[in-house]
Amino acid sequence: MNHKQISLNNQLTLNLFPYSSLEVFNNQNIKFDRADLGTFKDSLRAPIHRWFTYPAGFSFKAVEEALRIYNIRPGMIVYDPFAGTGTTNVVAKRKGISSFGVEAHPFIQFVAQTKLFWEFDFSTLSSEIDKLISQIENSISDANLLDICVSKIFPELVCKCYSHQKLAQLYLCREAIAALPVNPFQNFARLGLTNLLRSIADVATGWPYIAPQKARKITKTTQSLNVVEAYRIQLYKMRDDLYQVQTGSSIRGNAVLISGDSRQKQNLIDDETVDLAFTSPPYLNNYDYADRTRLEMYFWGEASSWGDITRKVRDRLMMSATTQINRSDYNLEKLLSDDLCQIAPEVAAELQPKIAELSKLRLLKGGKKSYDIMVAGYFNDMLRVMRETYRVLRPSSTFIMILGDSAPYGIYIPTDVYLGEIGRAIGFASYKIENLRIRGGKWKDNPQRHDVALKECIVTLSKN
Ligand SMILES: C[S@@+](CC[C@H](N)C(=O)[O-])C[C@H]1O[C@@H](n2cnc3c(N)ncnc32)[C@H](O)[C@@H]1O
Repeated sequence: MNHKQISLNNQLTLNLFPYSSLEVFNNQNIKFDRADLGTFKDSLRAPIHRWFTYPAGFSFKAVEEALRIYNIRPGMIVYDPFAGTGTTNVVAKRKGISSFGVEAHPFIQFVAQTKLFWEFDFSTLSSEIDKLISQIENSISDANLLDICVSKIFPELVCKCYSHQKLAQLYLCREAIAALPVNPFQNFARLGLTNLLRSIADVATGWPYIAPQKARKITKTTQSLNVVEAYRIQLYKMRDDLYQVQTGSSIRGNAVLISGDSRQKQNLIDDETVDLAFTSPPYLNNYDYADRTRLEMYFWGEASSWGDITRKVRDRLMMSATTQINRSDYNLEKLLSDDLCQIAPEVAAELQPKIAELSKLRLLKGGKKSYDIMVAGYFNDMLRVMRETYRVLRPSSTFIMILGDSAPYGIYIPTDVYLGEIGRAIGFASYKIENLRIRGGKWKDNPQRHDVALKECIVTLSKN
């Protein structure tokens, strides 16, 4: 079977999100733009979701819409095998729906866990914030900031992002938080400071990577910025968000966030108990999730080198970036797993020549990227995740994935169709694919870049 056949047979009529841009889609007059559903844009402005900017995150509105369409109500269970910063779980919790999420990146799991703890007493929370801020103010006025030897405390990357004065103040904030009792307020305070790290930096700390050599445009706000005041405002904003989500409905869903690997069996989730799985897997686009949180993990002292980040993060994630690959660890004659070849032979037969082509192409390219291993590993891993998701889903339920296709070295990989076919091979009755937006435009002036048109889409798998 060739790719054309797979696509033609299975790209059914698309009707999951059948609304045009900015059309009112429900009776609460919530609006959304289809093209933004796979991006974090909406979530940047929404209570709780905005506690951490995660470019790999999706719109909370996509989750809301799916819960509405599939009539998922309190008493039911939702599962996100790639929970990220907890977007799915936060939406479910707010609507009184129970949820499970699995996240393998320890720092991102901490972010999600913190966003899902809402059970603070409000008056205690306000006084804890005030107490922490005044402790920090006292320690700053007692210290001579010039005496704080930031270059001995932080890795070079962190030092390059801030003036000495600012970093010394951030350090005193960090120490005051470390001295707090280990409890949900400490996590809340940690996440609040984490969220400031990029917004108050003196250099370009855009996404996903940091450019220490590129100074940020100095505005009046950055120039006169008082770190402690910015931190106080951030914590109060988070407190107000909590207040906002606590008012309205009194039913709250129970969210269980598992720090683990969704390729493996999740013992906490019984067979056929989940009513809807909603997720966005890593895209097959060489995005390094571990590098994304380098500044944050270096600042908190959780890592201080590439090797640390590899051990603590990269090695735990499913395959989606060449930075996870050490070529000598692989049998290059047999990159696709026996499991995949047996269960989805048609997909394997299409992948095989593309992987072989990538093995040849890399030798002609300067970067010599191991896209051959990355592509094979991606589908080997996704098979495992999808099989586990199938296990926990109830009969007649749905698995929705927001994802992008890919074209490493210009070789087109229709990820959506292949995952749909793998899903059918596992036991899902059918799948459909709905396009959300064209992507990849920001690289169009890069001469190294292929010119294959890429898209982001929703793949919906139905279980009988
Ligand atoms: C596209 S992001 C999901 C973002 C999420 N929808 C949100 O809004 O924050 C994919 C996530 O999968 C995580 N991940 C990668 N491999 C994993 C694995 N084996 N098990 C669980 N999570 C994994 C990555 O760390 C990343 O956070």
